[in-house]
Amino acid sequence: MADHDFEPEIIVFACHYCAYAAADLAGSMRLQYPTNIRMIKLPCTGKLEIIHLLKALEAGADGVYAAGCMEGECHYLKGNLWARKRVEYAKTLLVELGIEPERVEMYNMSSAMGARFAEVANEFTERIRQLGPSPLRGDGAALDVVPATVAATAEEGQPT
Ligand code: FES
Repeated sequence: MADHDFEPEIIVFACHYCAYAAADLAGSMRLQYPTNIRMIKLPCTGKLEIIHLLKALEAGADGVYAAGCMEGECHYLKGNLWARKRVEYAKTLLVELGIEPERVEMYNMSSAMGARFAEVANEFTERIRQLGPSPLRGDGAALDVVPATVAATAEEGQPT
């Protein structure tokens, strides 16, 4: 049963070309989505490594998702496909650790999908609210350093 007082801390790894722009659009359309999501901008979700997902959870996020371009529309061709594989693999690791795999996810959207961005943010937040706080959750203080550390490793260069 969901604790409606529980406000999940959520980290979004957002591709600069699509989800990050879609979030801006959602803002200009004045669409409602949770304010407790923290966006980390990536040049492509292909830069996202499994360790980034795990580090975000370790730092105290209750849920983490990647938001990349639509399949077939990645500017680096297959970055979003790699990201989906990494997210799926991270889920298997979470199962091994006894943590709900639903705490990580991959979504695809275009820069024109402001409404979809808001919908995903709302749906994912509700999913995590139903799951409750992450078993790894501390006081969340470490979350403040995640954007900087991930950005330092993920910001530069071509997706791999
Ligand atoms: Fe957007 Fe690759 S450029 S996911």
